[in-house]
Amino acid sequence: MFIEPDRREAAQRGPLSAHVVVLGNEKGGSGKSTTAIHLAVALMKAGQRVATIDLDSRQQTLTHYLERRRLWARKVAKPVEMPLHFCIARGEGLRIDENEAAEFGRFADAIAEIEHRHDFLVIDTPGTDTYLSRLAHSMADTLVTPLNDSFLDFDVLGTVDPQTLEITGASHYAELVREARRQRRIVDGKVTDWVVVRNRLSTLGSRNRRVVGEGLSTLARRLGFRFVEGFCERVVYREFFPRGLTALDELDEAALGTKPSMSHVTARLEVQGLVSSLMLPLDARGKKRAEARAEWFMSAFRPLDVDDVLVDEPAPEPAGADPAPLPALAQARRPAPPRSSATAAPPPPPPAR
Ligand SMILES: Nc1ncnc2c1ncn2[C@@H]1O[C@H](COP(=O)(O)OP(=O)(O)O)[C@@H](O)[C@H]1O
Ligand SMILES: [Mg+2]
Repeated sequence: MFIEPDRREAAQRGPLSAHVVVLGNEKGGSGKSTTAIHLAVALMKAGQRVATIDLDSRQQTLTHYLERRRLWARKVAKPVEMPLHFCIARGEGLRIDENEAAEFGRFADAIAEIEHRHDFLVIDTPGTDTYLSRLAHSMADTLVTPLNDSFLDFDVLGTVDPQTLEITGASHYAELVREARRQRRIVDGKVTDWVVVRNRLSTLGSRNRRVVGEGLSTLARRLGFRFVEGFCERVVYREFFPRGLTALDELDEAALGTKPSMSHVTARLEVQGLVSSLMLPLDARGKKRAEARAEWFMSAFRPLDVDDVLVDEPAPEPAGADPAPLPALAQARRPAPPRSSATAAPPPPPPAR
């Protein structure tokens, strides 16, 4: 397809001020969308300004996740962090070049809205090789490839001798990443940090876990990625989806429909561990914003100190009477309900101090 060089180069360079994190793996079901939502929420909770793009226009898992998150927040009338979100529709015409040009146009428009105003852009990609997915890979500052911790999924990176379990070659996806990184270097000289994240790890030590680890070490040297431990196999990750929640959100009995368990606590630690091993460039300004926002979230639902609101002491109520309605000022100080769009920005936090 033909795309004017300037626009293509600008898109590949990506939003100039946002760090681009791409979730990629040609296999479906490896945990890309689950990791994408957890990273996006973790970054927002760290005070970073986050935008997200869903390139999986068939499944739209990330988009549905965020819609559910917004609906849940509205239902419980509590603010939750929401990124600025775009879902890029696929071109459905008969001609491939026209479809690609249309998809590129939508993608470039989204990038134009995001750039300079966000610290991070998290892009979720489909489990298939598409034109936009390749483009996203070539924009990545950090490429995160979640991999189910099994040899069954290993072939997305390399081929393995069935008898000796030795690595015999690189896969189609590994070649795609190699090419994307080459493109990236040509455009702005930067090297993509490729991180393979082991997902669905067994909670117990196992031979599989050890052997997959050894295979990854060999491949990491060959292909130039680093690998880190991600999430263990836990039912809680599947249970979060209906409410659009993550392991990092406030998880009480109302949110979960059951009492929080050790699994929720451990899942949260896993997510925090993953964020730190990704070594993303979280800035100090963002951390200040996070502190200020956390304080605001806490105070948003704290009962008001009526001394602040009422000038005259009201006459004491007779015992058993209904409480008086909140005065207008108190109503006004309540936080606005979350905005209605799936892509709504979070309620405005106070300015960072
Ligand atoms: N660590 C995990 N433990 C349990 N279930 C998981 C885990 N990671 C992902 N899943 C579940 O696996 C399914 C596929 O995950 P998803 O993130 O949609 O993969 P992808 O985006 O790569 O297709 C989802 O039902 C998700 O809830
Ligand atoms: Mg997905």
